[in-house]
Formats: sequence, structure tokens, C-alpha cells
Amino acid sequence: MIVLGIETSCDETAAAVVTGDRRILSNIVLSQIEEHRPYAGVVPEIAARSHLDHADRLIGEAMAKAGIGWDALDGVAATGGPGLIGGVLVGLTTAKAIAMVRGLPLMAVNHLEGHALTPRLSDGIDFPYLLLLISGGHCQLLAVEGVGQYRRYGGTVDDAAGEAFDKTAALLNLGYPGGPAVQKAAGEGDANRFTLPRPMTQKPGCDFSFSGLKTAVRHTVAGLPDGVASARDAADIAAGFQQAVADVLANRSRHAIRRFRSEFPEGRHFVVAGGVAANSQIRAVLSAAVEEEGMHFTAPPLDLCTDNAAMIAWAGLERLRLGLTDGLNFAARPRWPLDPNANPSGKRVLGEAR
Ligand code: KG4
Ligand code: ZN
Repeated sequence: MIVLGIETSCDETAAAVVTGDRRILSNIVLSQIEEHRPYAGVVPEIAARSHLDHADRLIGEAMAKAGIGWDALDGVAATGGPGLIGGVLVGLTTAKAIAMVRGLPLMAVNHLEGHALTPRLSDGIDFPYLLLLISGGHCQLLAVEGVGQYRRYGGTVDDAAGEAFDKTAALLNLGYPGGPAVQKAAGEGDANRFTLPRPMTQKPGCDFSFSGLKTAVRHTVAGLPDGVASARDAADIAAGFQQAVADVLANRSRHAIRRFRSEFPEGRHFVVAGGVAANSQIRAVLSAAVEEEGMHFTAPPLDLCTDNAAMIAWAGLERLRLGLTDGLNFAARPRWPLDPNANPSGKRVLGEAR
């Protein structure tokens, strides 16, 4: 089985071709970072226009690199949400056009399901497993029971972890995107010079909150002698911040592991995914905590952790195998929680669709 995947929900335009026996025939990602850098964040209109400019060409490249013709495809998958709606529309409409012209099944994939099923593509991990998804847009702990079967254990009530890194980098004038910049500065810093809070760690459950930590960084900078961080100050604050995030993630993950083991005694794997999983200090703290709790720690390779289309093609392929295809009238969804039962009131919980 061979599926083409298209991802356009945020600031990467991506196309990939993946097979049912877990081979990635092509995986092309075009980052828009340079276009958004002047604004220190993703501008939705710029993102949508850029997807429109590049999607067709990238899809052609992905097919050429895979070395297959359109007739070899068994289906086409695109992110159907959640995400920036203009961008989602570009990728989804393109996929619909291909599906219609080629008479192929369409799979409108939940972007979060793409992340959630990635360890099955990269490492062949069996259900059930526990997933910590930490990126610029997402921050949640999920039990992954099967395709379309997710139990959300917790999520952020305000900022995502990557968002906290990006905002902290901006406060410390370290540049954009913030995660790699904070990690680099932190490498030179003393994590113990400033004491930063570990929000939520005194509470039961698996929810996160990062906005207080960001505020603490702001107060710390304001409290410096002239209210501006020197390179030394920035490095020390970055190190303290990074350690605080790592401690919070480990604390919440331990709670999730205990719940997961009581609900799924056969589950052995804890998987971390998303751009923040690139952080070596966070990986080290998490993997130590996970092993101490008696589970196996897995992190898919970085290019499959950050946003990409191979994960969308793979999730589409898993859905296609089960006959879970979508009609050409599928409407793009700006918000689309993986576990609808996690929020029975139907009200939007901040960060939930992330
Ligand atoms: O998964 P991703 O590429 O895109 C989505 O947000 O979906 O994640 C990007 C996020 C950004 O917030 C970026 O600052 C963060 O991941 N990030 C990092 C590191 N590399 C990227 N955060 C901490 N340390 C890193 N080394
Ligand atoms: Zn993502």
C-alpha cells in the first residue's frame, strides 16, 4: 500500500510518500521560518499564501523522489485540522483535487493523530502506548489505544511548551525560533542562579501550565540591575527556565505513567514527540524519569518529531487499512481534539486543540 501525505497546518509546507511496510519513499519539508522571522511568530495570512505558492511543486517533488507514478498510489491524505485554517484549506483542497482526478480514496487526517501514530512508523511500536506531545502548538499526554482511539490524560491550560520557549527567547532577546536559541544559551548558563517556579507540580493529574513560568522570567529580567539581561544573565535565566520546563514535564509524565499502567498493564512504551523533544536536556530528564518508572523511553528521529508529511501519509495509511476514508465534502477543522470525551462540556479549553 502506498499513500501520499500533505501537511500545511502551520508554517511548514510538506509532502511525503509512505508505504504500508513502513518505508518513507520521500519526505519533503519546506520551512517558512524566514518569512515569519520579522514578526517573531507565525502570521496566518503569510503562511496560507506561502503554502499556496509551494504546495503543488513540493507534491510533484515528493512523487518524483519516491520514483512512482500517480497510478501507484492507493490513497491521498492531508491534514484536515487542527491548525491555521487558511493553510489547512490549501493542503486539503489540493488532496481533494488529486483524489477526484485520480479516483483515489481521501483521508482527512487529524494533525495530532499524525504525531500520535508516528512511533508506529519510525519504531514499529504496538498499541497501547503513552505519548507526550510537546511542540510549539501542542502540549498533551495521551494514551494511544488504537487508530482513532485516544485517551487524553492532560494538556496545557495556557501556553504550549514550545510557545513558552519562544516567548522566553523573545524576553531574553535570543532570537526566533526560540527553542534552539534557549537551549544554546542554557548550555553556557548556571541553572541554579535564579529560582524559577515549577507550575502545577504540586497538583495531582497531568495538566500543564507554562504562562506563570514565562511571567517569572519576565519578572526576573525586570529585577536585574538595569532591567536588561546581559549575555551572562540570559544564559543563566535560559538554563533555569529549561530546567524548570524539564522538571514540570517529568513530573506530569510520572503521573501519567502511573495512570497508564493501571489502565493498560500490558503497555510498555512511553513516547515523546514534537519539536521540544529536540531539546537534549529535556530528553535526558524525561528518559531518566520514564526508565525509573519502569517504562521504555522512545523518541522518533527529529525529522519525524517536528511537523512533516510522512506522519500524515502514515496516519492516512493506517486509516485506509481500516476503511476509514473521508468524503470530498470533508470540511477543514480549525479545532479538532483527539479525545472528544476529554471535554464533555463542549466548551473550548485553552490549549485543548493544540
Ligand atoms: O513540532 P514543531 O516543529 O512545530 C509545531 O509547533 O507543531 O515544534 C516547534 C517548536 C517551537 O516552539 C520551537 O521553539 C521548539 O519546538 N523547539 C525547541 C527546540 N527545538 C525546537 N524547544 C526547546 N529546545 C529545542 N532544542
Ligand atoms: Zn505539529
